[in-house]
Amino acid sequence: MVQGSVNLNTERGKEWLQDYVDNWVNFYQKQTDEGKVASYIPSLEHADPNALGISIIGKNGTIIRSGDTNVEFSIQSISKVLSFIVACMERGLTYVLQRVDVEPTGESFNSIMHLEINQPKKPFNPLVNSGAITVSSLLEGRTSDQKLEPLYQLLEKILGHRPEIDVDVYVSERDTSMRNRAIGYYLLEEGYLESDLSITLETYFKHCSLNVTLDDLAMIGLVLSNDGVHPNTDETLIPKQIARVAKSLMLTCGMYDASGKFASYVGIPAKSGVSGGILAVVPPRVRNQNLPFLEGCGIGVFGPALDKQGNSTAGIKLLRHIANQWDLSLF
Ligand code: DON
Repeated sequence: MVQGSVNLNTERGKEWLQDYVDNWVNFYQKQTDEGKVASYIPSLEHADPNALGISIIGKNGTIIRSGDTNVEFSIQSISKVLSFIVACMERGLTYVLQRVDVEPTGESFNSIMHLEINQPKKPFNPLVNSGAITVSSLLEGRTSDQKLEPLYQLLEKILGHRPEIDVDVYVSERDTSMRNRAIGYYLLEEGYLESDLSITLETYFKHCSLNVTLDDLAMIGLVLSNDGVHPNTDETLIPKQIARVAKSLMLTCGMYDASGKFASYVGIPAKSGVSGGILAVVPPRVRNQNLPFLEGCGIGVFGPALDKQGNSTAGIKLLRHIANQWDLSLF
């Protein structure tokens, strides 16, 4: 029991948690130098490599924020969880899963090779680029804005505000993303796309360019933790079954080709993005101890210096530390 005899539901308990997180954010912030900011999308290169922040929002209303919490950053691949959810809400889980599988790849997120070796040749999962581009093609609507409107509306209900696209990031990615175009052409040839390729890619680039904050990520995580129900309004925003599959995918495929390690050493569903964000979901857990966030919480982490797999170096260490100390693991 890390916090000794402090009752975590009291003001003193919350101060204890805040001090605890502050100390560890300071500690891991010194390790941001071990990673590198993504540069393959030119406008991501401007991020501060030494930034590190976390926001934790609990179902019981407790909020812990620490480090660089006032930063906005593009959501990048974390949006793949949301586009998958919206596609399933529009087309049904069965329809979507007939076109995109739910298996980890063990390959980098933008690998083309795995597409060719998989039989039948459908993308392995919706959290790698091939799967996410296919999912973008399944979203209803003729234009990218029409396709993304339900995703914006879902986010508006979760966050209480409508997210905006970072136009620099969008243009930067659109104009440089040759590999995603290659994946798109391959999917087109194999018959997996249900919309025009250029609209599909535009939709994909746009949802990756949505700006978010750490609190936004933590709120999304909290709604997923609560099986799709917004804890403040009690409104079901995501059907439970779809929220469940989304969380399973995050656990098995959410951290690129480091997903197995993350599941083993941290043990919670999470999705990272190349701008340095991580969305993590802590479902309610049963423990016979006075531990933080037993009713579940959502966590947002931001640390733009990335490791080889493309995950936030210091962000992963921070999450791992907190998850171990607070016994957040599902297992
Ligand atoms: O496809 C890309 O390159 C980005 N928009 C998303 C990259 C990212 O965060 C990693 N993907 N799993």
